[in-house]
Amino acid sequence: MSETFYVTTPIYYVNDVPHIGHAYTTIAADVLARHKKTQGKQVRFLTGTDEHGQKIDEAARALNKEPIQLADQVVERFKALWKKFNINYDDFIRTTEDRHRATVSRLFELVKERGDIYLGEYEGWYCTGCEEYYTESQFEDKCCPVHKTPLENLKEKSYFFRMSKYTQPLLDHIEAHPEFIQPKIRRNEIVSFVKEGLRDLSISRTSFDWGIKVPADPEHVIYVWFDALTNYISGLGWDGSETGGELYQQYWPAIHLIGKDILRFHAVYWPTFLLSAGLELPKTVFAHGWWTVEGEKMSKSLRNVVEPNALVDAYGLDPVRYFLLREVPFGLDGDFSHTALVGRINADLANDLGNLLRRSVSMVIKYTDAKVPAAGQAQELEQQLVATAAQVAEQSAQFLDQCAFHKALGSIWELVRATNRYIDEAAPWALNKKGETQRLATVMYHILESLRFIGVMVWPFMPETGSAILDQIGVAPDDEQLSRKSISQWGGLKENSLVKKGEPLFPRIDEDQAAELRARFESKTKDQDKTDKQPQDKKEPSPKGPAMISIDDFSKIDLRVGIVRSVERVPKSEKLLVMQIDLGEEQPRQVVAGIGLAYQPEQLVGKQLMVLANLKPVKLMGVESQGMVLAAGPGGADVCVAQFESEQPPGESVH
Ligand code: MSP
Repeated sequence: MSETFYVTTPIYYVNDVPHIGHAYTTIAADVLARHKKTQGKQVRFLTGTDEHGQKIDEAARALNKEPIQLADQVVERFKALWKKFNINYDDFIRTTEDRHRATVSRLFELVKERGDIYLGEYEGWYCTGCEEYYTESQFEDKCCPVHKTPLENLKEKSYFFRMSKYTQPLLDHIEAHPEFIQPKIRRNEIVSFVKEGLRDLSISRTSFDWGIKVPADPEHVIYVWFDALTNYISGLGWDGSETGGELYQQYWPAIHLIGKDILRFHAVYWPTFLLSAGLELPKTVFAHGWWTVEGEKMSKSLRNVVEPNALVDAYGLDPVRYFLLREVPFGLDGDFSHTALVGRINADLANDLGNLLRRSVSMVIKYTDAKVPAAGQAQELEQQLVATAAQVAEQSAQFLDQCAFHKALGSIWELVRATNRYIDEAAPWALNKKGETQRLATVMYHILESLRFIGVMVWPFMPETGSAILDQIGVAPDDEQLSRKSISQWGGLKENSLVKKGEPLFPRIDEDQAAELRARFESKTKDQDKTDKQPQDKKEPSPKGPAMISIDDFSKIDLRVGIVRSVERVPKSEKLLVMQIDLGEEQPRQVVAGIGLAYQPEQLVGKQLMVLANLKPVKLMGVESQGMVLAAGPGGADVCVAQFESEQPPGESVH
């Protein structure tokens, strides 16, 4: 039997309607699942909804609804959105389903049988938004560090999970499995947290009853995170038996894709529950970053939540799928802007890819009677193209296997650009003019074969586009033709297949159209808002001025070690230097700093500086700056940059 692969998304709360953050993880999971299928793996992809807990209960009551009524409605919204986004999941789990409830009860019992659950009393400060208790050191003014809303002082009888027992086993597991928590920066955070020593975890509540009852003690409902995390095995029908059941045996362990805000639940709580139950731990928990909008946090009160339906209606599905995974490295935070989206559509999709397909197909129609010609002797130009295609095929698969979606796309685009260059250099129009038909046939074959490679590789990201490319070059976009195996060797394209002219894949968007699309997006968002009568907007409290910040605030600041690779003066400026700083990323960052009176450019090269890496890019005297160098001093010539006492690798986080 072929190798199996199991990927999951978080299950989404039903107190909110879907937004672009939800779509992001789900698209990533879909791309990964499709990619693994093209590698011939047997794939299972699970998503779903998280429907229990106080938060959902309160949201439903506020709307005069039963929680299940609210859930039923919102579930339909999620399912419709996934359909619109071409998300090909295998199963959708709802935590209110019997199959899930049974699994949660069974897991609870099993952990109890292991002696890891005891009854105690809990007093603490609880945030319903997070569904979590906070300790005094984690908050100020009795407000939740995440939501800034008042915390509730709760005292209740509670079942506790002996999480403390698993401090060392968890650390050992993390140590032995470098792929377990990714990216590395998140792994380090978890290691520091666990090293402090885990405390026992309260895993039942008596203050409300919208949840799954504790077996044999119906006064208590099971803590919503114990309930929710179990979806990953209830979705496989885990039955508590020796083997866990057929699907569980076949597919577990999973790759969990999640947002960084819910890492602790996935990388600490969930694995320790599993350790207790004697079950295998997930293979990987990959935490991606958060999207902001035009530099601001996405929030209902700011009215800037990117509504995914409206986005697709305005720009089309594949461009949105492409943009979200190309623009930002999975794992880092990213900023959504219409300008960036239009920029990507025009440059990468319309200019590079769309044009390549359009001009290639037109040439075949014109020069070789719409038929794929037979290739003759390859010259150096062809050999180069074939080598690039082979390298890109290998590299893009490796990047995808590592969830480096942006790098996989970057690599595929190397082939797109190489093929465009090949056309320019081989100049089929000149060959046609000179009547060099054999050479012309060779060139046209190579262009089309390269497009076949591209079609197969873009398909997991943009299924409609990948299929359309194959279709236009006369290849049926079926499972066999879309498989990675079909591009394991050059030359799979059959002679004499008929090429068809199709619709342009990605029309260019000019300035007027960009404004129109944005207006269309905004008006669709408003329409959607009107239909979303629920949940009601909760006002977020206004910040109380530049007072103390919490550790959570600080964690938003991405400070890193940067090594200065080169420095130049910004033309016509005395003060500004433009530096290329290595942050351990694919490309050095360009950072502009006003330290030109204090330093000569050459003095800075090779220095290890402290760089604020997640500052919104700005232009200073027309030069883009993608970060900030930290320095002290009154200014002018009297400034000194912050450096490190011992050598650190570029990109290392500073905390
Ligand atoms: N129900 C829990 C997950 C339980 S999984 C066993 C939950 N649900 S959620 O609906 O609030 O969030 C789901 C996911 O959306 C999280 O991974 C979160 O990181 C992600 N996002 C929410 N806002 C986001 C952005 N602005 N940007 C990117 N992802 C974001 O948490």
